[in-house]
Amino acid sequence: MNSEVVPAQLQPRRLHSRSALAAESIFSVMSRLATRHGAVNLGQGFPAGSPPTLLLDALKAQAGTADQYTAPAGLPALREALALDLNVTAEQITVTCGATEALHTLADALYGVGEEVLMFGPVFDIYRPQALLSGAVPVLCPMALTPEGWTPDLDALERLVTPRTRALLVNNPHNPSGHVFTRAELERIVGLARQHDLWIIADEVYDELYFGEAPVPLRELAPERTFTVGSAGKRLEATGWRVGWIVAPLDMAVQVTGLHQWATFCAPAPLQSAVATALPLARESGFYEDLRRSYGARMRLLASGLRSLGLEVQTPGGSYFLTALAPGLDTLHMVEHGGVAVIPGSAFYTAGTAPEGLIRLAFCKPARDLLRALERLEIYLNT
Ligand SMILES: Cc1ncc(COP(=O)(O)O)c(C=O)c1O
Repeated sequence: MNSEVVPAQLQPRRLHSRSALAAESIFSVMSRLATRHGAVNLGQGFPAGSPPTLLLDALKAQAGTADQYTAPAGLPALREALALDLNVTAEQITVTCGATEALHTLADALYGVGEEVLMFGPVFDIYRPQALLSGAVPVLCPMALTPEGWTPDLDALERLVTPRTRALLVNNPHNPSGHVFTRAELERIVGLARQHDLWIIADEVYDELYFGEAPVPLRELAPERTFTVGSAGKRLEATGWRVGWIVAPLDMAVQVTGLHQWATFCAPAPLQSAVATALPLARESGFYEDLRRSYGARMRLLASGLRSLGLEVQTPGGSYFLTALAPGLDTLHMVEHGGVAVIPGSAFYTAGTAPEGLIRLAFCKPARDLLRALERLEIYLNT
């Protein structure tokens, strides 16, 4: 179109070139298609059903007491509760609108234009666009996929460090692989960070969701350089509440809060208040142990069902996802014609690099949904 002859109001309107990152994610696409086609949704990672009573009771009990802005760092009661729970000081904590905003704030705080951020691939989908929005370059370090499961390639990680590398982003337990990094792996990562003076972003939203060894918090190994990210939505099965947090090294915390204030100012006050009450109750009442038992049982149900359908399955050490290999499977076709939504492995890799047939399935759904999905998969895969 020739802009000299087309009136301004008819010219196509364009946002900044950053809006190239605004495409709908495959997670939203799958959830939308699952609803449209009545499919069992094992795609997006959110629990089906209501949050626990201890959280809902806490919400009712605080009604009318916390309805105005909190300080940008968060409601004091929540910062205190988190400090106790995470064994840090309240001054280190910034409460955010979910882990997503926490990660966004850290990208603003830590990544410079043209600097590189190392992260493990397969990679949770928001890390790359957030780095790109800060002008930084996301660099994927591969995790090897063998019949025994996923292993981070730490030799490759060392090789990928350049003079431009600024930060290591480690997600533990890891989404989508379910890998729980061993202490030895984390110590090697910390050694590398110290050697090259890199920041560590530790996305530990699944810190209470593990099925074997408990994950070691990275901030305990490298308190001087680790920014921990957490999520009440993941811990307390309320992903729509959008309450998350950052634990920063003490001397960085005020600046982190200062950046978060420009994005959302503060997380919703009533929800912060309810989470402040619920966190110690969850710890004291054995809620997380029950959660692990219940998710562990569902993970085993889905894994053994998939194996009996002939799929190669990687058993996760943590998170509420498992991965499997289903070569030749078209996930978009399956959601419409097979009645089951899963996430294709390509969502977690740069174009063309995902292992053939990799899929991710969320098992944070009721057992009856998992059984229904297995029944449908059996029919779909055999026709
Ligand atoms: C690894 C990881 N980090 C962060 C998030 C985002 O958490 P939130 O819902 O608290 O923003 C998710 C959500 O799926 C996740 O899997």
